[in-house]
Amino acid sequence: MLRRLSKDQPDSFAFTPDNQAWADAQITKYPEGRQASAIIPLLWRAQEQEGWLTRPAIEHVCEYLGLAYIRGLEVASFYFMFQLQPVGSVAHIQICGTLSCMICGAEDLIAVCREKISDKPHALSADGRFSWEEVECLGACSNAPMAQIGKDYYEDLTAEGFAAMLDDFAAGNVPTPGPQNGRYSCEPLSGLSSLKDYDSGKTQYNASAQLAVDLGDSIKRIDGTEVPLLAPWQGKSAGGKASSKPASAKKAEPKNAAKLEVAATTAAKAAPKPAQAETDAPQAAGKKPKIMKAPRKSGADDLKMIKGVGPKMESLLNSLGFFHFDQVSKWSAEEVAWVDQNLEGFKGRATRDNWVEQARVLASGGDTEFASRVKKGGVY
Ligand code: FES
Repeated sequence: MLRRLSKDQPDSFAFTPDNQAWADAQITKYPEGRQASAIIPLLWRAQEQEGWLTRPAIEHVCEYLGLAYIRGLEVASFYFMFQLQPVGSVAHIQICGTLSCMICGAEDLIAVCREKISDKPHALSADGRFSWEEVECLGACSNAPMAQIGKDYYEDLTAEGFAAMLDDFAAGNVPTPGPQNGRYSCEPLSGLSSLKDYDSGKTQYNASAQLAVDLGDSIKRIDGTEVPLLAPWQGKSAGGKASSKPASAKKAEPKNAAKLEVAATTAAKAAPKPAQAETDAPQAAGKKPKIMKAPRKSGADDLKMIKGVGPKMESLLNSLGFFHFDQVSKWSAEEVAWVDQNLEGFKGRATRDNWVEQARVLASGGDTEFASRVKKGGVY
């Protein structure tokens, strides 16, 4: 299926403050300079906040991670879990149309969707509350036919039962996920033939359905207020040294200070005590390079010609006092270390992409392979 961005897009996107703090915490999972690896969780969070993944959201996440927009679009358009069209405000229904489900009645379920929601997939119902699509196997084949609604699976469906279920959703209820024909999980329809005595610790519903019931977030949208905002790995570095909170996480304070503090205290209790010298280590190593208050009269250089510098990074460099290739080309190793430490959210990128060497070529009027691509419009 061709996956394209919706023609109708909102003007802008911003994470809620709590979701932004969550995003700041996520990128600390990755080594310095590798924060772009957080693209999938961040896009996912943006989708959970809005219901679908808008172009401004993709661009926002790319800017946050210092990536070209096309990189975010590649990810968003590749994975079917990302909804590139608006979805129903109550629920988006995903009907499995692969072999087992098709044999067992997926087409009947699709007919219900066409009748009750919209004749076409990826189109909103008249009241905007529902949408649907056919998807590939969701891995619950022994409970065919099935559908994913919001975050949960509804299995062993019949057309009549499914139609009643949609009415139930429309009435503001959330039907219990899991098998809908009385089966506990995926045991034979004729009943258990082995392990008949096994019932130790058995919950009312099977484990997946029970968790769904316990969490109660099947079709709930995330607004960021329900999650712990400091990831458990924060508070100590990979090497066991105490690490200061990342600069990006610091931005979350003071609003989230209480939650950050609780989590940091917990992490500190769990972590081995670092040597005093380590805790006292300066946060920003290296030596600050010479900076400028403003670009020269001729105007600032386009620092995005340097690989690893996106629009957001360029603004950050400008705010630090760097506007020209020749400034960057003169950084010593100590100065590169200082810059690396002060790239909020992107620490280590100057070293990773060898900005000094790139800047030397650009400052002398030459072109790097990356700069040539930028000039041809192949990057930004
Ligand atoms: S075929 Fe439908 S879940 Fe596998």
